[in-house]
Amino acid sequence: MAEDSAAETVIRVRDLAARFDGRTIFEHVSFEVRRGEVFVILGGSGCGKSTLLKHMIGLYPPAEGGIEVLGERIDRLQGAARTALLRRIGVMWQSGALFGSSTLAENIEVPLEEHTSLPAEARALVARVKLGLVGLSDAAGRLPAEISGGMAKRAGIARAMALDPPILFLDEPSAGLDPITSAGLDALIRQIARELGTTFVVVTHELQSILAIGDRCIMLDKEAKGMIAEGDPRRLREESDNPVVRAFFRREVLE
Ligand SMILES: Nc1ncnc2c1ncn2[C@@H]1O[C@H](COP(=O)(O)OP(=O)(O)OP(=O)(O)O)[C@@H](O)[C@H]1O
Ligand SMILES: [Mg+2]
Repeated sequence: MAEDSAAETVIRVRDLAARFDGRTIFEHVSFEVRRGEVFVILGGSGCGKSTLLKHMIGLYPPAEGGIEVLGERIDRLQGAARTALLRRIGVMWQSGALFGSSTLAENIEVPLEEHTSLPAEARALVARVKLGLVGLSDAAGRLPAEISGGMAKRAGIARAMALDPPILFLDEPSAGLDPITSAGLDALIRQIARELGTTFVVVTHELQSILAIGDRCIMLDKEAKGMIAEGDPRRLREESDNPVVRAFFRREVLE
């Protein structure tokens, strides 16, 4: 099929508007995410990055516009069809939240218990494989309180990958990490995208991360209530003539 070319679209956001109690957070947001790329959503605090992510995974109904994920209108699906689509996307939230009283391995088994009929032995095996993938084989039996912040982020990614979703959504994966740990996480995201063909949608405002992992990005802006840039972050840094975009990529102070 011609559509199965390298640039196959896996997410299509069309003319999306988000409003809470009549207050517009953003509007006229349109973009596409292609299979296997690392797509970054960036912008200052409060511009609506997490809100956009929640729309993309069907948690919030759009005020206007629509969202297609893997060929289906996620904002319109209900019941079993919706559950089936949600199984095909993995999410790691900004807060990261692992279950505190469960070991890392048990944390990864939770979605498998919920969504599959795999026997306990197979679930344990999948958990071990996923932890191995993020470099946490030795920590499978530890509790979340017994690991570092960087390890918790890795465990969160492993759990989001439990059901082998073709798309992973990560909200601020490197928030609160030191630069070296954060760079390690970036390398892991790139490796998973490259070697497993997983598509990533990553929210971040870490400039280093954006330049290291982002194939393409969009930038949201609170004042503009919408998108102010779209494209390859390295090119935006060199070529954008929007003052806010330039200020962000070049760390300039806005006049
Ligand atoms: N469920 C909700 N009800 C009402 N307002 C909301 C809701 N969710 C988000 N908002 C508002 O939408 C705006 C954008 O919030 P959002 O969390 O999406 O920002 P963000 O870009 O992710 O910020 P940060 O970088 O701090 O995480 C904020 O003004 C927030 O108060
Ligand atoms: Mg947020």
